[in-house]
Amino acid sequence: MYNETHRPQFHFSARENWLNDPNGLFFYDGQYHLFFQHNPFGTAWGNMTWGHALSPDLLHWRQVEHALYPDALGTMFSGSAVVDWHNTTGFQAGDQPPIVLIYTAAGGTSPESQGKPFTQCLAFSTDGAQTWQKYPGNPVLGEQRSGNRDPKVIWHDPTRRWIITLYLDENDFALYASPDLIHWEHLHDLVAPDSIECPDLFRLPVDGAPGMKKWVWMAGNGRYYIGDFDGSRFNPESDLLTGDWGANFYACQTYSDIPDPDARRIQIAWMKDGQYPGMPFNQQMSFPCEIRLRDTPHGPRLTRWPVREIERIWADRQSWENLHLDSRGILLTADAGQQLDISVSIGLKDARAVGLEIGGVAIRYDCEAQTLNCLGCTAPLAPEDGRIHLRCLLDRTSLEVYGNRGLVSMSSCCLPSEQNAVLRIFAEGGGSVFEQVTASNVLSTWPKE
Ligand code: FRU
Repeated sequence: MYNETHRPQFHFSARENWLNDPNGLFFYDGQYHLFFQHNPFGTAWGNMTWGHALSPDLLHWRQVEHALYPDALGTMFSGSAVVDWHNTTGFQAGDQPPIVLIYTAAGGTSPESQGKPFTQCLAFSTDGAQTWQKYPGNPVLGEQRSGNRDPKVIWHDPTRRWIITLYLDENDFALYASPDLIHWEHLHDLVAPDSIECPDLFRLPVDGAPGMKKWVWMAGNGRYYIGDFDGSRFNPESDLLTGDWGANFYACQTYSDIPDPDARRIQIAWMKDGQYPGMPFNQQMSFPCEIRLRDTPHGPRLTRWPVREIERIWADRQSWENLHLDSRGILLTADAGQQLDISVSIGLKDARAVGLEIGGVAIRYDCEAQTLNCLGCTAPLAPEDGRIHLRCLLDRTSLEVYGNRGLVSMSSCCLPSEQNAVLRIFAEGGGSVFEQVTASNVLSTWPKE
């Protein structure tokens, strides 16, 4: 268990069976909670149930009892969670604040719910997230449009109310406000080209622009607007930007209730469509990333960067310095392992392309086109001071690449090839200096069962 051939070793996957979107991400009393779209009965999508896992450090996950099972209103589609510190719902029944799950009951997706629409519902815990009960007054929001789903809730302190962003249909989304999560008022609709499902909304300071804070609205595919939100209306101030350039990044969600002074905005995505042949489980989550905004010449841009906790599971760190490459490759190690965290700083000089190869997969920077290429995906990436910085997390079936400290993020899945232990660096068509290369093995975080 947990050491099957294609089992990711430091990424979350369900003990068994199918998993898709991360749901209900919140932090409470020292634990990060991760719910997930789950089919308890098979390795294909279906019978949507909320699985549940928790972790003290975003590394070591313990899967516990499922939290939400299908009922007469439908199967349990995606949603979010909040700690109701002010007991606005009135659900509190003891010392602990209520913890509320806001989810979609997908009517019509099970025999018991035939003929019913998709609606938004609540479930809550009064014992600090150990047991869950559904709100007897469900649904709290009736059908707005056929298929509407994936409510994400945040507390908006200036107006002392909850703000909910919801997927409607096609490329349409909407914002709602509620004093108590039970009564919802429509604020406005929002369109995001080529984007569907699982929206998110949050506010962040802009690194490099002291005093500036911006709102980010994001769709399930990671595409996002930067803008302003006054408690009633989100006004995009940017084009729709790309949050991740990989082939397997989807249904991302950020954590609620991470307390000050940490107050990080941490995101997990489903690594959609990975292949896990012969495994008792199917699909995995991305590695948790801290999301920040960075001031750039084009305006503020999102960065994604693996949470620093990963350093606790580094092992056998190797490093190399000032490797001068002239149109050639060098083998750094033939035995790099299948779980790696690698960082590379490259001075570009006159090379046409530079990069590294891990287990036969190339992460290639095209210096002329100024693009990063990996596993069939391409992202624009400009050098900074004549240098490119790359970081790569490899965990058996996934490769997550971060360019220039998270300005580009590329999350992809791939099945390891035979030669998965080889780590090479290369330059083509000219010279370059690999000023710094560090490679750490990453330890498994699963319990030894
Ligand atoms: C996104 C999604 C959501 C839906 C859920 C169903 O992957 O399609 O829109 O709520 O998955 O499992």
